[in-house]
Amino acid sequence: MNGADSVRLAVLGSGKGSNFVAIAEACKTGQIPARIALVVSDVSEAGILARARERQLSAFNLSPGKFRTKLDETAEEELIGQLQKARVDFVLLAGFMRILKGKFLKVFEGRVVNIHPSLLPAFPGLEAWKQALDYGVKVTGCTVHFVDQGVDTGPIIAQRTVPVLEEDTAISLHERIQRKEQELYPQVVRGLVRGDIRVSGRTTYWKNAPPGAEV
Ligand code: GRF
Repeated sequence: MNGADSVRLAVLGSGKGSNFVAIAEACKTGQIPARIALVVSDVSEAGILARARERQLSAFNLSPGKFRTKLDETAEEELIGQLQKARVDFVLLAGFMRILKGKFLKVFEGRVVNIHPSLLPAFPGLEAWKQALDYGVKVTGCTVHFVDQGVDTGPIIAQRTVPVLEEDTAISLHERIQRKEQELYPQVVRGLVRGDIRVSGRTTYWKNAPPGAEV
């Protein structure tokens, strides 16, 4: 990294890109002192690619290869190469539906973060908002965490709570969680870019917690 203004981010997603948009807006206003150098999706028609192109950002459609939940070796090499070519400092996962491990995490060690729609370690994996509703919890939320070799298991950076209402459906609950995600993710990325977050073992420490943060 060569100073705060030139920190370069990549955002990886497979879906509509609402978290990407929140991060892109925060870069534009200066809340996050960084630029988005590359947006990657494994789904050619994903909204995130369209949202990136609308903003004249580099958007790359990655062919994931033969597996359903991970990248094959060629795809992993291609992804690493594209991110290195774009001189990316941090890799932000925002609904990227492929598990990243091994070589990828080695190359970008300590620089890959993810947002998950539950209060981890509760409800890892798919459709976490639905898992929470089906379980009957009264409070759920979202978590930003570093990515390690497991699924949704890395050190937690920040969390926000969302109450589960009696009248909630999976859709209404997911929408409220996503609104919280869009507040939280840019705050965490700002902290990362400014070098405010330190990790020791499983615990992360904030130098300057964002206002009102439950970190
Ligand atoms: C978010 O809810 C995130 O928590 C999950 O995938 C969803 C992505 O949504 N991992 P979007 O593409 O950012 O709108």
